[in-house]
Amino acid sequence: MDIMVEPSERLKGFMTYAFAEVDRAKDEARRNGFKILDFGVGDPTEPLYQGAISGMQKGADKHSRSGYPSYVGMKEFRTAASEWLNRRFGIKADPETQITTTAGAKEAVFHLPFAIINPGDSVLMPSIGYPPYKAGTVFAGGIPEFYQLKEEDNFLPSIDEIESILKRNSRIKMMWVNYPNNPTTAVANADFFTSLIALSKKYNFVIASDEAYTEMYVNERPHTLLEYSGDWSNLIVMQSLSKRSNATGIRLGFAFGGAEIIGLYKKLRTQIDSGVANAVQEAGIAALQDEAHVDEMRKIYDKKREIMTSALDDAGIKYFANSTFYVWAKVGPDSINFAKNLLEIDKQNKIGINVTPGKMLAIGDAPQADSYVRFALVPSLGDTELAAELIRKMPKR
Ligand SMILES: Cc1ncc(COP(=O)(O)O)c(C=O)c1O
Repeated sequence: MDIMVEPSERLKGFMTYAFAEVDRAKDEARRNGFKILDFGVGDPTEPLYQGAISGMQKGADKHSRSGYPSYVGMKEFRTAASEWLNRRFGIKADPETQITTTAGAKEAVFHLPFAIINPGDSVLMPSIGYPPYKAGTVFAGGIPEFYQLKEEDNFLPSIDEIESILKRNSRIKMMWVNYPNNPTTAVANADFFTSLIALSKKYNFVIASDEAYTEMYVNERPHTLLEYSGDWSNLIVMQSLSKRSNATGIRLGFAFGGAEIIGLYKKLRTQIDSGVANAVQEAGIAALQDEAHVDEMRKIYDKKREIMTSALDDAGIKYFANSTFYVWAKVGPDSINFAKNLLEIDKQNKIGINVTPGKMLAIGDAPQADSYVRFALVPSLGDTELAAELIRKMPKR
């Protein structure tokens, strides 16, 4: 007899898939014979950096008898990460105590709350943002508290708003920030990071900075949170090779920050898995030692960004495209309806465009989210041009 296995109460809260409605419309358009130009999910379609492939191939031989990898990552990988941080941001992070390897930023984002919060503690996060901020908090028994990202504040949290939340809720143990930001493309400035760090020292909470997109800039190179304080004790950053080296498929990143907090995350990781495959870390070493492929990657996204934003200009649609490989277009007031219409934008030739409605990127109460859609510039140049042509022909708004 089949036994009905009930999902846990926490899992139940995450069983409705946010993208379901648009996915259904996308499937239907495909069933109706539409070719869909897919700007939905932020997963690069360019190939993994060739040097990383060679590194991984050599690593597979080299580590054929290495057994379980180290929980914290190979010393060589952590050293390569430390050297990269020094070249890129001018900071000195000790590979022994202040850096640890992760299987991409996602797992680190999800797991970090397990190491530092207790049931009933609160975690501050953006109400429009990366879903694992919320999932990790909830699965660890924490309570999400949301702050708003508003256009009038350049999509940076207002320090005053954060302070009033901290005054009201004394159980905030941690706060997520994500710059360059998915989906708004905003980049944080020195003033913001400095003020936020001052607040974290006053109210005694951890700042966790998700910096998965620091290498996807337009002109000016973004900074890391850790450049703005000599005291890293309550600061931790998640870095990732995913976007920098088109490496989403091999799952590799690293966390860096104060030795205390990195130590807690390392302890937690010993309970979860047995580290990242050594061959993958060899790929990472090769990738971190090369910047030429990252420059090339940025040039491709620059072209796509230019093609898409010039079409949005022609269509009279306001947008934000300041970093990352997203364009955050203001199409309000009904992002889902706009996205559904795009799916059948060219009925005659049966071509559609898939984008992510802002409403689906809201992880908390965020009424403003419904005014935007997100284009992830991942289709080929040719498909981006085709989409741009179709957008240009839309009735002017
Ligand atoms: C804001 C943000 N953080 C982290 C990640 C995950 O990166 P990784 O592939 O390293 O898990 C993503 C992926 O899209 C993201 O958008």
